[in-house]
Amino acid sequence: MRHATGIQDFGVEGLEEILTRALAWKQGKHPKHLVDTILGMVFFNPSLRTRASFEAVMARGGGSAIVLEVGNGVWKLEDRPGAVMDGDRAEHIREAAPVLSRYVDLLAVRTFAAGGGDAEDNADPVMNGFRTFATVPTLSMESAREHPCQGLADLMTARETFGSTKGLPVTLTWAPHIKPLPKAVPNSFLLTAAAAGCEVRVAHPEGFDLHDSVLEQARALAAQSGGSVSLTGDQGAAVEGSRVVYAKAWGPATSSGLGAESVKDHPDWIASPGLMAKAARDAIFMHCLPVRRNVEVADGVLDGPWSRVVDEAENRFHVQRSLVQWLLEA
Ligand code: CP
Repeated sequence: MRHATGIQDFGVEGLEEILTRALAWKQGKHPKHLVDTILGMVFFNPSLRTRASFEAVMARGGGSAIVLEVGNGVWKLEDRPGAVMDGDRAEHIREAAPVLSRYVDLLAVRTFAAGGGDAEDNADPVMNGFRTFATVPTLSMESAREHPCQGLADLMTARETFGSTKGLPVTLTWAPHIKPLPKAVPNSFLLTAAAAGCEVRVAHPEGFDLHDSVLEQARALAAQSGGSVSLTGDQGAAVEGSRVVYAKAWGPATSSGLGAESVKDHPDWIASPGLMAKAARDAIFMHCLPVRRNVEVADGVLDGPWSRVVDEAENRFHVQRSLVQWLLEA
């Protein structure tokens, strides 16, 4: 049985398979491949794109989706092993995951980082709990560590723009925000771009390092794919000559000792037209959305010639259709 809770589940080979089919199906060559298939979707956190795109995948494929919002008409769920459940969490995922598995063919979960720090995020307890106790293929709609569907859509967008991602210079740049955001999206962009053979440059201010385990995994994927990973604190130098500029806000590393307010300390890291002018002449701009205009990214970038953010969001549908097929055909 296949799962897709992180890039380790499909790797360099699976990435190629999923992207190739997504690109082909986007041209209209796709069957009603999900007749009689039910996707269970468990949301611990809000969503616009992920929920709508997965519901569209199931409806257009001839299947259906059951959407459950934890704590909103659904019992609050406990994930801690051995918990004394005397609080407001009335059901444990040890029961919830196998019960849901009796009703659906695939189980998808969205569960953001809980604020316990980088080590807890990397352990990804809620997602791994569902994966352990479900008896059907489990997939991530973003968890504490990764957002694999976003990474797939990002690389599909790069590939349909440039034809190939082998050796493509791409920059993942930190951006300012009003609060510290989880690292799942930057982790997945880095990991997926490395697996796709890109020359990945990661730029962030001091103290905003991505976790060592993610960097090690990205370097290992790059070694397999022929890509590379480099880190810098110089945003302008990173973007120079890049053909993809990917901006994302994230919080400080736990080990940095920086507080939550530190995300406001570098307003000059906003993605601006001036920054884009340093990139390659044919560079595109990407962001996973939602985006806080004129905090993370200037209007001039989002509304300018570089922006592919809406195409990128559309591609969530195409890659997820392909990913669901990949999960079911094991
Ligand atoms: N990019 C993304 O996952 O969007 P949502 O949070 O709206 O699903």
